[in-house]
Amino acid sequence: MAYADKEAKRIFAALPGLLLPWYAENARTLPWRRDREPYHVWVSEIMLQQTRVEAVRGYYERFLNALPDIPSLAAAPEETLLKLWEGLGYYSRARNLQKAAKRIVAQYGGEFPRDYDSVRALPGVGDYTAGAICSICFESPAPAVDGNVLRIAARMCSDSAPIDLPATKKAVASALKEVYPKGRCGDFTQSLMELGACVCMPKVTKCDICPVREICLSHAHGTQNTLPVKLPKREKRVEPRTVFLLECDGAYAIHRREGKGLLAGLWQFPNTEGQLSPSDALQAAESFGVKPIELLRETHKTHIFTHIRWEMVGYHIRCREKNGIFLWATPEELRSTYALPTAFRIFLDDAQI
Ligand code: ADE
Repeated sequence: MAYADKEAKRIFAALPGLLLPWYAENARTLPWRRDREPYHVWVSEIMLQQTRVEAVRGYYERFLNALPDIPSLAAAPEETLLKLWEGLGYYSRARNLQKAAKRIVAQYGGEFPRDYDSVRALPGVGDYTAGAICSICFESPAPAVDGNVLRIAARMCSDSAPIDLPATKKAVASALKEVYPKGRCGDFTQSLMELGACVCMPKVTKCDICPVREICLSHAHGTQNTLPVKLPKREKRVEPRTVFLLECDGAYAIHRREGKGLLAGLWQFPNTEGQLSPSDALQAAESFGVKPIELLRETHKTHIFTHIRWEMVGYHIRCREKNGIFLWATPEELRSTYALPTAFRIFLDDAQI
């Protein structure tokens, strides 16, 4: 059933009355729900983009301890910022966060803007994040429509329009906007997130405890396991790579990635395209200007980015001397100082260095 239909409107209109009392009883205790300070909510929403709640918890606390307000984020050295983000992935989020903080300092005297259009215009803030911030912090009737909310809407209205289509998102956003409850906008946004995370999940549907089952057409028709409909996923490009763990006196060779593209500006172990054989890897190591003594270990790892899948072979090679092309870092320095993304860190963790 289309979201603009009369029956869909009736379903949406019943949502706040059913969801809000349920949310009051069942909301999870999450660190970013302690207050509605815009800086806190903004940081949490950026971290939660494409990232699970459990993964974000620790990062959120550490980030705010290190950078407690907008001016401190604006002034943070890039290394500090990237180190705080290390392992969360999608590093452009961290750069955009800082870009936006600088703009807030320059343009708004360090005060987070309060109107939707100004929030939406900040780097890294899309419709979803602007809706989440404005409803939670400023009680604006601004829906925050992500995959969770689209899934709930598709099931509730038994609607089979693919949820990845922009038109579907637009229709759901406009149906929701109509029913945002005055004075409870933030709770309504969060109650939808909560329902999607804890009850109406992608693979598991806990209809027996669902607060909206009485209005849910999927529950009535038994279609909850076939909805939502999604467009076929784009295949990930597979890239074979060789990663070199060059070790000399307990230190490892690293260097910085270029300032543009994938993992821009982060540190990495030397690596090349393609999977080299052990003997070719030793030759390649010599071509980097190091003197290999022995190949200690070969490991195979996969790391998945949004559109790319790295199939990596890692060679742990002991070397005679530390050449000047690389920075040589001890495992302790790799942990404390340099932002080494997960794609490379997994080799360290695996070797228990
Ligand atoms: N996912 C995105 N934003 C969230 C929030 N504020 N709470 C829980 N999960 C979320």
